[in-house]
Amino acid sequence: MNNNMGMFKVRVAEVLEETSNIKSFRLKRVDGALFDPYPAGAHIDVVGPTAVVRQYSLCSPPHDLDEYVVAVKLEPGSRGGSQALHDHVEVGHELEISAPRNLLSVAEDADRHILVGAGIGVTPMISIAYHLHRAGEEFELHYFARSAKEAAFRDLLGERSGFGERVHFHFGLQREDQPDVLDGAFADLSSASHVYTCGPQGFMDGVLERASSVIPKDNVHIEHFQAGEPVDTDSDAPFEIELDDEVYEVPVGRSIVQVLGDNGIEVDTTCREGICGTCIMGVLRGEPDHRDQCMSSSEKSANDQIAACVSRSKSPRLVLELF
Ligand code: FES
Repeated sequence: MNNNMGMFKVRVAEVLEETSNIKSFRLKRVDGALFDPYPAGAHIDVVGPTAVVRQYSLCSPPHDLDEYVVAVKLEPGSRGGSQALHDHVEVGHELEISAPRNLLSVAEDADRHILVGAGIGVTPMISIAYHLHRAGEEFELHYFARSAKEAAFRDLLGERSGFGERVHFHFGLQREDQPDVLDGAFADLSSASHVYTCGPQGFMDGVLERASSVIPKDNVHIEHFQAGEPVDTDSDAPFEIELDDEVYEVPVGRSIVQVLGDNGIEVDTTCREGICGTCIMGVLRGEPDHRDQCMSSSEKSANDQIAACVSRSKSPRLVLELF
């Protein structure tokens, strides 16, 4: 297997139109060998035909190491990511992918697991469901989508998966009806139950709010990685950061984490993509330009924390503290 800086070559074995704007891609190793084992809920980086890198959940059974399946939603305004994968990738083409990474680990000591996916956010829930089903764990999967037509993997989850009545479809629900449905899903949970969710930020905020009224907040696992297209960086400008009375300039094209690293101050990081929250620092003064996927809207508007691997500043200087 080719391995270039942690990237691997795979061949596209099948492309399926799951909905009018979602395609699934079945990927196999070019050398015909098995993939390494990976945890349920993991995702991979995929380098598309235009060299743009995007993250996609693995939605195949984690015990099936013969192939990976990812689902790609065509994002509006996509210039090189999802659009290129939809338009130019066919069976037989080779792609480069990373090894799986996981930011959404399954709590192995839970008494019950409730998986809540909205739209394309159902994908990490599928691999977790496969894992839990195989392990004989108690789980339910709640799948929210605008309509049955827009719900990828509906047939798979309806019959072929074998999950049976553990799958609950919620299609075409009005936003104001979602809290009642979530309350119903969470009604019988105990303090040892865990909830996992992936979908649009507002949806996940709602799941967190309803679930944490029943179970400890720490038992709610949120998958943020389904990032959209990258932010426009054309108008980026340098800014200053102050930490422990020292001032450093963050130039265009460098992150706060990198600048601090250049100056011997190591900030812990995991994803370096604004997804995991490992690098979050406190903001004592100044207004961050939030570009992460890991903080909620209310955390962002408080402006007292920053994901230092991706976010920048709207003010000339940010005064920061390390947590
Ligand atoms: S390292 Fe993951 S959000 Fe910054």
